[in-house]
This record gives sequence, C-alpha cells and structure tokens, in this order.
Amino acid sequence: MAKQITAIPFNGTPEQEAKLKEVIAEWKGKEGATMPVLQAAQEIYGYLPIEVQTMVAEGLGRSLEEIYGVSTFYSMFNLEPRGKHLIRVCLGTACYVKGAQNLLDELARVLNVEPGHTTADGKFTLEPTRCLGCCGLAPVIMIDNDVHGRLVPADVREILKKYD
Ligand code: FES
Repeated sequence: MAKQITAIPFNGTPEQEAKLKEVIAEWKGKEGATMPVLQAAQEIYGYLPIEVQTMVAEGLGRSLEEIYGVSTFYSMFNLEPRGKHLIRVCLGTACYVKGAQNLLDELARVLNVEPGHTTADGKFTLEPTRCLGCCGLAPVIMIDNDVHGRLVPADVREILKKYD
C-alpha cells in the first residue's frame, strides 16, 4: 500500500494572521527580511503551509516562488504540521551500522508514513536525524525527550503503544 503524505487542512486563526501581519509590517522594505519573517511565521503557526508562504510573499512584495524556494531550502522550516509526538531515528554512523535503517523502515511501515512526514492522524512525525549523542546505545531513536536504545525492529510496536 502506498504510504500516505499528510494533507491536513490549513486552519490558521485571525489572531495568528494579525501577529504575522505585525511582523511583516516591521520588516517590510528592509534588507534580508525573508528569513526572520519566515522564522517568525513558523513560530506563530508551527509550520509553513502554502497559505502562510503566500501571506509572507504578498506582505513582503516578493514572489511566491522565492518564498517557497527559501522555505524548502532550509531544513529548519517545516512545510507540514508537526505531529503530537516527534520520533527521531538516528542514522549516524554507529546507529547505521547497527541497523538503524531497518528501524526507520519498520517505523515507516507501522505508522504508514514516509520519513520526514507526519501521520494522517497528526500523532507522529517521523524524522531521520544525525547522531543524537548516545552512540553507546545504538541503534537509538528518540520520541519527544525519551531515548530508546539497542532496538530491533520487533520492538517498535510496543514502544509506540506508550504514546497516545
Ligand atoms: S550515531 Fe546514533 S547516537 Fe550517535
């Protein structure tokens, strides 16, 4: 079965829009406005859907292509909402040689989501990442602030049950 790419509808509030407009007004016409405005927009909304990118583009008088280019180029920007729980799967060398890719594949299969994306129910975001700094426990995943180490793919379902 094809894995799902999330299509959670945008539901920004008028308060969020008002805040974004304030930030845009503060930066409009200034050199290097795009990055700080996008950062602020992500803080306000938690991510940068196309609707928010459009507001930024129109507000700053830039093209949507330009704003989209910046939003997709920098990994700090999320184009999708984050799930309630963030699962980070370490693909650093120590974890990789101990089978981290199999863990990632199993998580993607069990959650029915592509790495880098959020499940359709908004519960989990699955994110491959670099060394998490606890290589002695390889292979390691982190769910929110919890470290789970020395895992095999068969452990994955049990661990996920702990997170509602
Ligand atoms: S390589 Fe995975 S924690 Fe360091």
